[in-house]
Amino acid sequence: MFADKIINWYSEFGRQLPWRDTDNPYYIWLSEIILQQTRIEQGRSYYEHFVKQYPTVQDLANATEEQVLKSWQGLGYYSRARNLHAAARHIVYDLQGRFPDTYESILALKGVGRYTAAAIASFAFGLPYPVIDGNVYRLIARLYQVYTPIGTNKAYREFEQRLMHLIDKERPGQFNQALMDFGSMYCKPTGCDCTNCIFSQDCLAYRNGVVDMLPVRPSAVKVKERYFYYFDIRWSSPNPIIVVQQRGQGDIWQGLYELPLCETDRPVESSELMDWMRETVRNWMGEEPQRMELGPCLTHQLTHRTIKAQFVQVFFNDRPIKMPKKMQPIEWSEMKYLPISRLIDRYLSEL
Ligand code: ADE
Repeated sequence: MFADKIINWYSEFGRQLPWRDTDNPYYIWLSEIILQQTRIEQGRSYYEHFVKQYPTVQDLANATEEQVLKSWQGLGYYSRARNLHAAARHIVYDLQGRFPDTYESILALKGVGRYTAAAIASFAFGLPYPVIDGNVYRLIARLYQVYTPIGTNKAYREFEQRLMHLIDKERPGQFNQALMDFGSMYCKPTGCDCTNCIFSQDCLAYRNGVVDMLPVRPSAVKVKERYFYYFDIRWSSPNPIIVVQQRGQGDIWQGLYELPLCETDRPVESSELMDWMRETVRNWMGEEPQRMELGPCLTHQLTHRTIKAQFVQVFFNDRPIKMPKKMQPIEWSEMKYLPISRLIDRYLSEL
């Protein structure tokens, strides 16, 4: 009943999306990883680019991590790209190129959580596992007037049970696509057209006038501020040189290149800023730069963190007498080949 209604709605109003025209598990997996923290409009062009650049899982496995990070540039949350690449290598070298075809074995792939595993299992293999994300929580919380705060393990199990009763076991892929589209296109967080909704007769929240109170959100996590002071160190010899370094282990930007920096939890007083930056450069390079100029201050929003990034340009006439090991001078013209974070990309495109 519910399944027929929502699938009928989907066949009339569902979105046409490139990854919906295939049952190739590799393409479906690619699309789901890209869409994990990315809007559809942005994800679509990256998906098309990845399919063209890496048409098979072998092509992805044969690429270097640096190439994959470069293809990912601008999408953010780079651990997705690193996991994608590691999982492609696992599929090709350990599983003889055969994509895993059970829910558990899909879930065991790096970077694949319950939502993504259910999406791949149902779209590519017709297995009856429901997808549960924010849109689906909202739809089900309203339909059944559920007050359990969403996003916890307890809520997941409760909603999963309800969906296991509702899912169309013959057409789980279509059922899940329909849930995704109905949740995001019709049963919206605010201002939805409940009187004309196909579920207006069934929806307990609508009947009881509590649509806007559901779903119940878990208490908000405090967003922490961090201050990054970036040094754009340059000279010419004879071509323009810029100094870069690579981010280390255990970091969301791991493996990406950026400019040398100091990170703190508190801002440096603006009256002391230039002196402190000059002193830092002198300690690193063993000599004073010829000139320093204050650059832009950019704010970069991550899920649980706000980064305030202050850039300063540091000009030397020639290569400085010393330099910390992890810093690498490169020709400015090579910069476009390096994988960099979106923050550094924003800075460079402002220059
Ligand atoms: N978000 C995550 N996966 C999706 C899909 N397959 N279609 C539309 N939106 C999505």
